Amino acid sequence: MAEQPRPRKRSVAKIVRTVRQARQYRPDTVPDEVLAELLEVARWTGSSRNTQPWHFVAVNDKEQLRRISELRTAINWMAGAPLGIAIVLDGANAMSEAYDEGRVTERLLIAARARGLGGGVAWFGDAEQQAEAKRILGVPEERAARSIVLIGYPTSTTDPRPTRATPGRKPLSELVSYNRWGEAQA
Ligand SMILES: Cc1cc2nc3c(=O)[nH]c(=O)nc-3n(C[C@H](O)[C@H](O)[C@H](O)COP(=O)(O)O)c2cc1C
Repeated sequence: MAEQPRPRKRSVAKIVRTVRQARQYRPDTVPDEVLAELLEVARWTGSSRNTQPWHFVAVNDKEQLRRISELRTAINWMAGAPLGIAIVLDGANAMSEAYDEGRVTERLLIAARARGLGGGVAWFGDAEQQAEAKRILGVPEERAARSIVLIGYPTSTTDPRPTRATPGRKPLSELVSYNRWGEAQA
């Protein structure tokens, strides 16, 4: 029997690089089973001392997404997303919860990509804008909420905003030292 060609392995770096910030989506809704899986991924994310200091508000009401999108122009694109998962934190330990929030956000984005979808992060803004986002979402005042992860089927990863950040990344030579700060690889 003729030997089958081995499927080429893509490097992990290449796969993970497809986890980009997507801000434009098809109008299609996110299937319920995908949402359920994303919430399961979020639930199993590790947190400082396993405090699991979070609550997730899944938002598929377009009007709710539109209201949050109007908090500031840098997040107006989120009105076009079919789904958002707002991350609400206990508000008991700002430093560790910020780390936990970043960790769960990245897991959601990676899981969405693995399911053929994509996502993007939107920060609500300053203290007043965060308070308004909490009012829209009905989140108790004492909880902390500063971001929502939008999920959908991306049509582009180009940043459509006039204020877009410079794309791409710094070279590793600027980012890495070996054994001691500033030292090159032996
Ligand atoms: C903490 C944090 C907050 C962010 N807030 C926003 C935001 O409010 N609006 C937005 O459009 N993108 C936001 N982003 C996305 C970044 O702009 C994006 O990750 C960066 O430009 C790299 O994009 P790329 O991976 O597609 O190259 C945020 C990212 C992080 C990590």
